[in-house]
Amino acid sequence: MKNEYAVQLSNISKIYQDGDQENLVLKDISINVKPGEFIAIVGPSGSGKSTFLSIPGALLSPTEGTVIIGDTKLNKNERKKLTKIRREKIGFIFQSHHLLPYLTAEEQLQLIIDLNKKNGKPAMNAKEMLEDLGLTACAKKYPAKMSGGEKQRVAIARAFMNNPDVILADEPTASLDGIRGRQVVEMIKKEVIKHKKAAIMVTHDERVLDLVDAVYRLDNGELKRTVK
Ligand SMILES: Nc1ncnc2c1ncn2[C@@H]1O[C@H](COP(=O)(O)OP(=O)(O)OP(=O)(O)O)[C@@H](O)[C@H]1O
Ligand SMILES: [Mg+2]
Repeated sequence: MKNEYAVQLSNISKIYQDGDQENLVLKDISINVKPGEFIAIVGPSGSGKSTFLSIPGALLSPTEGTVIIGDTKLNKNERKKLTKIRREKIGFIFQSHHLLPYLTAEEQLQLIIDLNKKNGKPAMNAKEMLEDLGLTACAKKYPAKMSGGEKQRVAIARAFMNNPDVILADEPTASLDGIRGRQVVEMIKKEVIKHKKAAIMVTHDERVLDLVDAVYRLDNGELKRTVK
């Protein structure tokens, strides 16, 4: 039977070992996200938001707890499986855009197609994706020649290229003004609704919280749902 949830995190704790100091960053966090659901995580700097997002992103393993993406339970010892999940199921938008400096916008997207050719997923079209996101003028540009907002939107286009079930965005509006920040979150929302994706966004930006279905606050390692 297919899992009702796209992301299932149960009793997640994360401890960073810092010399002989233990830093308990996440304490017994459980949360489920369904396809078509867009949630936001807010919290002060250093509260563990990026750490939290890296766990469903299959970039970091929790110290305790279970992570299920679609029907697959992640296991930190199965590195190949983690890579496959990352490549096929997850679209990660990083806190800074992480574009490759020596590729144009179109080439950044084409790279994802090339990496995914083997797994038989129907390839998205890089040109169409850029067009969809209003980035045609950037197709042949290198990141150094793009504005902050353009770079962030290309990073989002890239995260959508593998047609992921789960979109994870770490402060996608951080480098943008209010209007452009909102456009970026609206792009994610559109994708969530149109293609029934599950999305988790970490943000400091209170002005975009009306666009999500639920807001959670991370404080002192604990995650609590807040009233919007
Ligand atoms: N790789 C690591 N090793 C050890 N400690 C880490 C590591 N990454 C983060 N930390 C610590 O864990 C805590 C949470 O960091 P994290 O980056 O998850 O916070 P954040 O909420 O994303 O902050 P910001 O809003 O500034 O991006 C911080 O105290 C940080 O110093
Ligand atoms: Mg962070």
